[in-house]
Amino acid sequence: MSDAIESILKETRVFEPPSAESVGAPRWLLGSMDEYRAMHRRSLEDPEGFWGEIARELHWFEPFDKVVEFNPPDAQWFLNGKTNICYNCADRQVESGHGDQPAIVWEAEPVGDGGPETRTLTYRDLQTQTARFANALKSLDVKKGDVVTIYMGMVPELAIACLACARIGAVHSVIFGGFSSQAIVDRVIDAKSKVIITCDGGWRRGTIVPLKENVDNACATLGEQGHAVDHVVVLERCENETSRHSRDRDWHEITQAASEDCPCESMDSEDMLFLLYTSGSTGKPKGIKHTTGGYMVHTYLTSKYVFNLVPDSDQIYWCTADVGWVTGHSYIIYGILPNRVPTVMYEGAPNHPGPDRFWDIVERHKVTQFYTAPTAIRAFMKWGEEHPGKHDLTSLQVLGTVGEPINPEAWMWYRKHIGRDKCPIVDTWWQTETGGHMLTPLPGVTPTKPGSCTLPFFGVDAAILDDQGNELPHGSGGLLGIRGPWPGMLRGIYGDRDRFIDTYWSRFSANDPRYPNPTSPSPYYLAGDGAKRDADGYFWIMGRIDDVINVSGHRLGTAEVESALVSHESVVEAAVVGMPHEIKGTGVAAFCTLDPDFNPDGHDAIESLKSTLRAHVGTEIGAIAKPDQIRFTDSLPKTRSGKIMRRLLRSIAAGEADVHQDTTTLEDYSVLAKLRESEEG
Ligand code: PRX
Repeated sequence: MSDAIESILKETRVFEPPSAESVGAPRWLLGSMDEYRAMHRRSLEDPEGFWGEIARELHWFEPFDKVVEFNPPDAQWFLNGKTNICYNCADRQVESGHGDQPAIVWEAEPVGDGGPETRTLTYRDLQTQTARFANALKSLDVKKGDVVTIYMGMVPELAIACLACARIGAVHSVIFGGFSSQAIVDRVIDAKSKVIITCDGGWRRGTIVPLKENVDNACATLGEQGHAVDHVVVLERCENETSRHSRDRDWHEITQAASEDCPCESMDSEDMLFLLYTSGSTGKPKGIKHTTGGYMVHTYLTSKYVFNLVPDSDQIYWCTADVGWVTGHSYIIYGILPNRVPTVMYEGAPNHPGPDRFWDIVERHKVTQFYTAPTAIRAFMKWGEEHPGKHDLTSLQVLGTVGEPINPEAWMWYRKHIGRDKCPIVDTWWQTETGGHMLTPLPGVTPTKPGSCTLPFFGVDAAILDDQGNELPHGSGGLLGIRGPWPGMLRGIYGDRDRFIDTYWSRFSANDPRYPNPTSPSPYYLAGDGAKRDADGYFWIMGRIDDVINVSGHRLGTAEVESALVSHESVVEAAVVGMPHEIKGTGVAAFCTLDPDFNPDGHDAIESLKSTLRAHVGTEIGAIAKPDQIRFTDSLPKTRSGKIMRRLLRSIAAGEADVHQDTTTLEDYSVLAKLRESEEG
């Protein structure tokens, strides 16, 4: 990490915010850094006043009687308030006379002679379609509190499915369509889910992702394990023939039979809204639990200020994430719709049919806010600036990035080739667990530095801590911690209280390792990231400090990949680490010890086993987890106590000529030399 600190210390460029006029924005919602500082101070000193006022901008069936209560690590927000997030996304806009305005603008991936298919759903469409589908879910016996699994492509019905669950108080668990059937099995069992919503297939780079087939395979495995799935709702999207089962229900049939009359359930502010599984340090993904009121208010407010959303101003916002990740939940659906600026949903790949597809979309829809990931920006850089250069991107007002640290070079390219050297870039740091943005510039206000996510959002009290939990002064690097509660924070890991406490809250506990130090009035939530704060108080994220890697901005636990590898008959032991990767940011490097019966003989046999293992990981987890490098080794480097020396493996995977780490605790010195000599994949 010290190298990373050194390199960012050299970044001295500062970009002052442009005027609203110069980027074509109607106005900046905040006037100055002084205004930001005053609001930030108030949000921390008077959370009741600050958040209470914001929350009242949204609709509540019954008012809350207290804004926040925090008994570390448990927070409650907007206590006893009753609301519904679907109501705030759709019905509220209809009630206030804006039912005919566009809410979701969807574009299909396939491009026919007449261009790609597009569909616009108004707030009224959203209201009636979610109501109908909500009634359809009720007809399948889905009740308040039940977990509904959603495994779909990026079609408007995915948003409708989420909102319909929220409408009736069912909890959704969306699984990214790139995950395998095994990933569905694990999550369905953990969530005790009985209903799965899917598509016959999904379009991706001109081919069909077999979503329904994956669900069928998952159901077969689930059946063997004694977990029956009652219903699989199938939306026809690709005219893809799939096998039919008695549990299958056709989306259109059950929806057409349903009435449009389905009032929104009055939900307690702390009722569960969704589960979203994410990777951690162990092999088992954790179901991050989010509730209703706090999440709604946090995503609403961050969307508004971070993207500078101004209704009735011809803005059109586009986030390129998939709804299978938290970014899609918070910043395609839940945070954007209550702000009454249309949200674009694009079905497919950035390079289909050509590498300028995104810029074509920006130009045709006159996108004003564009939010993407550093990995995508690095791919655009590689494809060449001529692709954005062919399109009129002058509609863009604000650019955003999320998911992993952005290297200053990519930041500068983004600003120059997409943002006309003018548009403010909001580098937003947050996590599945935080629900919404935590550290971020505010456009038109915050001077930006390439590679820094700058300053805390309202209500966020962030600090850099040393190993003992002491706050460090500006200029030092350490652990990123958040003091006190914020509205969108996770409310736990589904079904695993101990893991919730262990993972985020117990590092500095003095007495009982299970619980935060009871003498500490405001313990820190530990993000699992290393970061540095510079002399101006700006945050620079250095990356994960646990065994989690960020591959193309998607979080992956190295333990998950390891357990996928050893589940193959040829692998006895595996160690997985991250390695630098030009496009993905971090790639996956695997070191495997083979069963002697499988020792491949010769180059072709080695290569063939490597491809088999890659494919195997793809089947067990999903394509994003496939190792970029596989090395076979007689044994893995371990300390005397048997711990795999991952730092050493990271150096080897990075191709560093000299391994700098202290190897005095290495049990078998010869292993190191063998690993370095072993063939790369
Ligand atoms: O390491 C940080 C990185 O992504 C992690 C969270 O991953 P996930 O829960 O999948 O959510 C991603 C989308 C919010 C963080 O712990 N990360 C996220 N945003 C940034 C980032 N790293 C640096 N800069 C960011 N802007």
